[in-house]
Amino acid sequence: MGLNWHRWVVSAFLLVAWALILDTGEICFCMGGKTSDFLRNDYLSLDMPIDSDTFRVPPGYNAPQQVHITQGDHVGKGVIISWISPHEPGSSTVIYWAENSEFKWQAHGFFLTYKYFNYTSGYIHHCTVHNLEFDTKYYYEVGIGNTTRQFWFKTPPPVGPDVPYTFGLIGDLGQTYNSNRTLTHYEQSPAKGQTILYVGDLSYADDYPLHDNIRWDTWGRFTERIAAYQPWIWTAGNHEIDFAPQLGETRPFKPYTARYHVPYKASDSTSPLWYSIKRASAYIIVMSSYSALGKYTPQYKWLEKELPKVNRTETPWLIVLMHSPIYNSYVTHYMEGETVRVMYEKWFVEYKVDVVFAGHVHAYERSVSSKFLIILTLQLLYTKDEYSLHLQDLCALIVVSFILYIVSMIFTLNFGLRY
Ligand SMILES: [Fe+2]
Repeated sequence: MGLNWHRWVVSAFLLVAWALILDTGEICFCMGGKTSDFLRNDYLSLDMPIDSDTFRVPPGYNAPQQVHITQGDHVGKGVIISWISPHEPGSSTVIYWAENSEFKWQAHGFFLTYKYFNYTSGYIHHCTVHNLEFDTKYYYEVGIGNTTRQFWFKTPPPVGPDVPYTFGLIGDLGQTYNSNRTLTHYEQSPAKGQTILYVGDLSYADDYPLHDNIRWDTWGRFTERIAAYQPWIWTAGNHEIDFAPQLGETRPFKPYTARYHVPYKASDSTSPLWYSIKRASAYIIVMSSYSALGKYTPQYKWLEKELPKVNRTETPWLIVLMHSPIYNSYVTHYMEGETVRVMYEKWFVEYKVDVVFAGHVHAYERSVSSKFLIILTLQLLYTKDEYSLHLQDLCALIVVSFILYIVSMIFTLNFGLRY
């Protein structure tokens, strides 16, 4: 039987009513679920004092400090190990060995320094360890003489579907008393995160007079207790820009890119500010909210080539990290991610990105696409051979809509509150 105007009118009415139900549901039912009993205080947390125990310098002359690791290749068989020798170059060599193995390997890195206005950095070492075994615990040692320090990490399982893996999610950490509580919360989480997806804004050193880069050092020592033992997947935020022409500092991201290296060349990127990695069952794309991203820019051209490369049978999870969210109802930073949304939302939909994680807005929000619900509803309306709308159709539509809404809320990823 062909469509007639009654059917179109009633169907349109039902769709509008259904949309209103969903919309009202978002406001009234708030079915996002409860992920934590934690509630932050209303007042802003103060920065921890510079002589705080959390910033303590490791003992011994020129002892390596601010040790941190990140993935060092595209698939998880490499690790970039970074640290700072404060007084003299020391050694850029890493000694490492697999658990239960007698044989010790060496990898040779390099060091760099940078100046920022009246600050001169220590000797920043970066050493990439390649060709590790998957799913293996490794110990590693940095430093020389009496000031060696030992840490460990565990490589991920081979890339593939159905590979369980647990990511933590942190952004906008800073170095306040609340920052310390955040790390403790993560350490004590029963979920036991294996890698941190870090969505930008690290030290907030630029909030200090003259962008006091000593606060980059304190942040590095503060985060070492986790960052030396599991990879942090870095994303640049606005507090990494450090563009200060009044200080003569005109190269954006100077301290950040000197201190936090990422494997951007492994994904054919030309900038450490945007890149991708595969880890377990996830394909992770990191974007820069504060780099040129319009049509024909390097970031645009890279992402245009990158998205079609993702093989969803190999990595069913496609995750995008950026600093500024593309959806935000909170008053602070309202619509700052709009340029990214205008440029890239259609690609995220087209390539079926599972989740976009962002930071920047210090108020927790999450959203889920309703487009798949609309498709299902249309199917319900138009796939019947002989169509007539009855009260039971309406009831069924409402029930199905409500069930789908609940299901969508359940499947929305749960992660902890960030403050
Ligand atoms: Fe930010």
